[in-house]
Amino acid sequence: MNWLKRSVFMLLLLASGTVMAQDAKMKSFVDALMKKMTLTEKLGQLNLPGAGDISTGQAGNSDIAKKITEGKVGGLFNIKSVAKIKEVQKVAIEKSRLKIPLLFGMDVIHGYETVFPIPLGLSCTWDMDLIRQSARIAATEASADGINWTFSPMVDIARDARWGRIAEGNGEDPFLGSAIARAMVTGYQGNDLSKNNTIMSCVKHYAMYGAAEAGRDYNTTDMSHQRMYNDYLPPYKAAVEAGVGSVMASFNEVDGVPATANKWLLTDVLRKQWGFKGFVVTDYTGINEMEVHGIGDLQTVSARALMAGVDMDMVGETLLDYSPKSLKEGKVSMAQIDAACRRILEAKYKLGLFDDPYRYCDENRAKTEIFTNANRATARSIAAQSFVLLKNQNHLLPLQKTGTIALVGPLANSKENMPGTWSVAANFSKATSVLAGLQETVGNQVKILYAKGSNLDADSAFEERAGMFGKGLARDNRPESDIIAEAVNIANQADVVVAVLGESSEMSGESSSRTNIEIPAVQQNLLKALLKTGKPVVLVLFTGRPLVLKWENEQVPAILNVWFGGSEAGYAVSDVLFGAVNPSGKLTTTFPQNVGQVPMYYAHKNTGRKLDDGKWFEKFRSNYLDVSNDPVYPFGYGLSYTSFEYSDVKLSSSTLKGNQTLTASVQVTNTGKLAGKETVQLYIRDIVGSVTRPVKELKGFQKIDLKPGETKTVSFAITPELLKFYNYDLKYDWESGDFDIMIGSSSVDLKKVKLNWVK
Ligand code: BGC
Repeated sequence: MNWLKRSVFMLLLLASGTVMAQDAKMKSFVDALMKKMTLTEKLGQLNLPGAGDISTGQAGNSDIAKKITEGKVGGLFNIKSVAKIKEVQKVAIEKSRLKIPLLFGMDVIHGYETVFPIPLGLSCTWDMDLIRQSARIAATEASADGINWTFSPMVDIARDARWGRIAEGNGEDPFLGSAIARAMVTGYQGNDLSKNNTIMSCVKHYAMYGAAEAGRDYNTTDMSHQRMYNDYLPPYKAAVEAGVGSVMASFNEVDGVPATANKWLLTDVLRKQWGFKGFVVTDYTGINEMEVHGIGDLQTVSARALMAGVDMDMVGETLLDYSPKSLKEGKVSMAQIDAACRRILEAKYKLGLFDDPYRYCDENRAKTEIFTNANRATARSIAAQSFVLLKNQNHLLPLQKTGTIALVGPLANSKENMPGTWSVAANFSKATSVLAGLQETVGNQVKILYAKGSNLDADSAFEERAGMFGKGLARDNRPESDIIAEAVNIANQADVVVAVLGESSEMSGESSSRTNIEIPAVQQNLLKALLKTGKPVVLVLFTGRPLVLKWENEQVPAILNVWFGGSEAGYAVSDVLFGAVNPSGKLTTTFPQNVGQVPMYYAHKNTGRKLDDGKWFEKFRSNYLDVSNDPVYPFGYGLSYTSFEYSDVKLSSSTLKGNQTLTASVQVTNTGKLAGKETVQLYIRDIVGSVTRPVKELKGFQKIDLKPGETKTVSFAITPELLKFYNYDLKYDWESGDFDIMIGSSSVDLKKVKLNWVK
């Protein structure tokens, strides 16, 4: 054993020696370069201006070219095409004095041209390998087209379905959110940033952006530090631990100071507590906006941002414009400017740009590695696994591949609305609509009748706002009753109705908050008319947020939530509807009964006036007069075409002492007729604490495959590490006492055992 330990130690020593040697090499390179740089050139590295319009063949004459030539640009973002990027990089390399290459960033949020499900959908796979793979493919395609930096992952915990950007994150839970943060960062960055198919990741929006008051985008955030540390900060921290190269500051304020000027957040927590070594970029005009927040004029806010720990200024150009004056007046220090400049140069060094500024500009790769059949097949499979089957009365699904289907709904025949929010690089014309997906996969076996059935919303002005960026839905100006009548007519000729309803792509995402989170009334009217025909109705639901589905859950026999599945969504919907894929997605956010219940999340506290289990109202208890405390669909919930049965939980011991490892296991059996996947979830409750503790917290999950009749034992190894939390003094530790260990198929469907664990 000793020799093994010694060899491992020697290997670690060697590895750390290599890292140290690489770091020293980078340091001396950057030192030498910085010695040659003027103040303007240093500030230029901190500048990430908007690219403006760069047409191929014209980069040298673009507005931005002059600035690049003067050494006033550190990077650009959201320019698409390797040809353009190469041209712009050439300006930096051939015309600027020091030939420092540029970073090229982009919002590659859930895929590049091959688009994967929106992140909220992706999180419902609970499959870290798939999520890593999606990021890997996104990085391969983006880097083949000139991009070396992505503004992803977005890991903001969100518990308020009104907030449109809930679509861009991984839901409400910090444990799952942290696992996904790690998977995404390693997917993008791999283990060597200098490879031409890995790109630098940027975790965002740091921090607490998802807790905007009233779910209104960019709104004030205010919460206790205990909640920050326990619930909101863990995913950002996980990204840092996974080696993320950059961090984006958020638009919101934290403790009364906008994140962009919040030194506690950007320096004390991020760098001193977590040891982050990369660079911090602002969000779009984040510095300028602090004037409106009301903490000073442009010079003041730019100085505050820099001194708080911002290294790069997105779009606003304030660091470039105001820092010389602030330096003279002693409002910023040269040391801080140098530190920021060094971090940007180090990022470029790690990406290998100083060795070869055109490393990510291989036109041949652009031709052969983007939107390939293999990538699309993976995206199709991942999309199908992100869908969540919410209801399936009498096994209405999967559908038989025979007879006639009436395909109805404003989202049934739209390519543009398949990729979902933030699909900057997507080519909408190449996406597959549900109608096309069905026609291509089963069209010769099934007769498909199609009618739009309704507009997205009765209000044309709303529909316009919800159809921006070329994602409109070709409004039908006939009276609502005529449009519905046409759909009812084809429904009457069909064996089954598939209603493709919900939100358009731009009804979630940035600046797309809603106070009414139901399916728009005009679509509900269509649904009611379809149900009246007496034909079986399947609701295929597009949405970027948890919706209020109380009525739909009561009335519609089958509901398949497909989020926004990406470029291959149409095929994936067909795969699941007809049973080629058995759905296995589980919700990562709670679906409330009405908007009045939000913010709503499973890991809540008990309060001193907890409502007894099984009751829905009692005077002087923490409840509502008009609705129970339950959600319509809880966190972790999702059905399958087969069924699973859980045994009781078995513990290796029910009394533990000190740093032991407990094994908790259950047997899961597939009791149905089809093979299926099940995500087995582990929750722990710390029954008594020095501060109040949530009623349960996710602490483990495993996704397993089970054939019909098959049983598998699923075991979780639990150490005191999993019991730790930030206490009143923000010390991260665990406390002796009793714990509930719960394992099951959702946050409410659990088998429970108790144990005692002392220090
Ligand atoms: C968003 C960011 C995004 C940035 C650059 C901002 O409006 O908040 O998430 O990365 O724009 O496109």
